[in-house]
Amino acid sequence: MEKMVNIRINGRQVRARSGQTVLEAAKAAGIDIPSLCNHPALTPHGACRVCLVEIERQRTLQPACTFPVAEGMRIETESPKVVEERKFVLQMLFSERNHYCMFCEMSGDCELQALAYRYGLDHWTYQNPYPKIPVDGTRKYFIMDHNRCILCRRCIRACGELAANHTLGVKFRGAKTMISADMDVPFGESSCVACGTCLQVCPTGALVDRKSAYMGRQTQVERTKSVCMFCSVGCGIEIITRAGRVVRVEGEWEEHNKGVLCVAGRFEPVYTARERIMSPLIRKNGEAKEATWDEALDLIARRIKAAGPEKVGAWTTCKTLNLTMSEFVAVFRGKVGARVGVLEPTLSDLELPAGGSLNDLLASDCILVTGADPLSTHRVLGYHIKRARMKGAELILVSNNHNEMARFADRRFSRDELDKAIRIGQAASSPVVVYGEGTNKKEAEKLGGLKRKAHFIPLFPATNGYHAKVLGLQSGLDTNGMDIVYLLTEDIAVPEDVVRQVREVPFLVVHATTAGPLTEVADVVLPGLLLSESEGSLYNLEGKKVPVRKAVPIPEGLIPENEVLTELAARL
Ligand code: SF4
Ligand code: SF4
Ligand code: SF4
Ligand code: FES
Repeated sequence: MEKMVNIRINGRQVRARSGQTVLEAAKAAGIDIPSLCNHPALTPHGACRVCLVEIERQRTLQPACTFPVAEGMRIETESPKVVEERKFVLQMLFSERNHYCMFCEMSGDCELQALAYRYGLDHWTYQNPYPKIPVDGTRKYFIMDHNRCILCRRCIRACGELAANHTLGVKFRGAKTMISADMDVPFGESSCVACGTCLQVCPTGALVDRKSAYMGRQTQVERTKSVCMFCSVGCGIEIITRAGRVVRVEGEWEEHNKGVLCVAGRFEPVYTARERIMSPLIRKNGEAKEATWDEALDLIARRIKAAGPEKVGAWTTCKTLNLTMSEFVAVFRGKVGARVGVLEPTLSDLELPAGGSLNDLLASDCILVTGADPLSTHRVLGYHIKRARMKGAELILVSNNHNEMARFADRRFSRDELDKAIRIGQAASSPVVVYGEGTNKKEAEKLGGLKRKAHFIPLFPATNGYHAKVLGLQSGLDTNGMDIVYLLTEDIAVPEDVVRQVREVPFLVVHATTAGPLTEVADVVLPGLLLSESEGSLYNLEGKKVPVRKAVPIPEGLIPENEVLTELAARL
């Protein structure tokens, strides 16, 4: 049972968990102690001294974020002495660098500025020496403006503790201290993987997102919780929008990824420049012309009925929502009787368990990765493997090729040596097996020997591969003998061999969000929705059904994919 202690904060009796810091205990009791360098997802550091409090029998003021509670402790958080000291700390923070709030992107949202207002600081008491401080704009997605940095080191801890990348550190000492990357190289030339975790935790305008800068303060934007659809990890995200436009994407702290995203999930949705399809198109005399939904769906239905079931094939990407995928199967397999499948591998031939989680990785003492390279395909999972290693887990990599994960492997085996890797897993106390599309049936049978002991995490090559597997959808396109092929591709980049194969099909329907090589050859093109416009659910890495929520309105004239399929079914 948890040990509790009795403390008094500002004269109020508070029960706190033994081991909590004063800041945590106060927060749990609804008492606000200001803080800057502290962040709930990071190890307390005690760098800024803004949280100083008076603790009975302590000679000096103590930082609440690092000071543990103890039985009988009496704490004052807003006494005259505390407030005077806190104001001094804030004035020093403002005086060290160049903080011109009126020009700062974070003005209105900055935690330092908010404290200045809270403690009535409306001018600089200490003369500002206007130091010449650099701005590093060498990174693609965000800028480091050292002028606004308060050296709280949240970014350093986020990079090391959450992304496990350890790019950031400090250089020099005292007043000259600066955040730096690697061996003091420009940020754009560093080992940074652009996960943006540092950007998300920075309390000031020191780290500035190029795209969302000056696009709206917290009070002017809306936040919608949803799921990233770039890979099957299914990280929780918050889509930040203003006036119906996506401003930026942030990691959701309450979901299994605990705030961490990768470059694709965080930046891709606002950087994509692919041409959008905004209306159904029908190709006539070699030219794709705009058509109404009725014209396009009537034509498709007529051609399907004329061809007969054995001449119709339908394939969908796994990167689609549960309802759409189920409707796709119901229409093409159930109603048409067509050949139905998915474009990406579903790992359905591997009889291995699933359901392992990111938390299982963090609690593991041995992680066996086979047939996969998480750091290039399922990056947030890759970061968690690196985090587990930091805590002492051994990483065993089974691969015949050098890949991103190889740099961090404690032991490497070729695929012929899988048995050796499995023996190490058997000797561990909480092993986790991470397997991907590079695993074959025979290897899966061998890995099955760890079933009773290990957690298993399948790395589906596409987002909702879990659902495709549950629906029993086979992967692989085979258009041989088909008169009609219907491809639901959403926004995936379709492989060249798929394009080559379907070029020969007499009647091709492509249901896609963006234009590409397939839409250039399709007889009918149907437009789809972006993630931010979609509503429904999908399965994440843990096999958990998670809601996908609409953050911006559906553009006029577009229809959700599942409704299009229902409309088509009504015509068959
Ligand atoms: S860049 Fe931001 S998070 Fe990093 S030390 Fe400076 S103020 Fe803190
Ligand atoms: S973007 Fe990610 S990897 Fe790069 S410095 Fe920030 S936390 Fe580290
Ligand atoms: S790891 Fe996958 S789900 Fe998570 S942010 Fe990256 S692409 Fe999205
Ligand atoms: S929040 Fe406690 S020292 Fe910074």
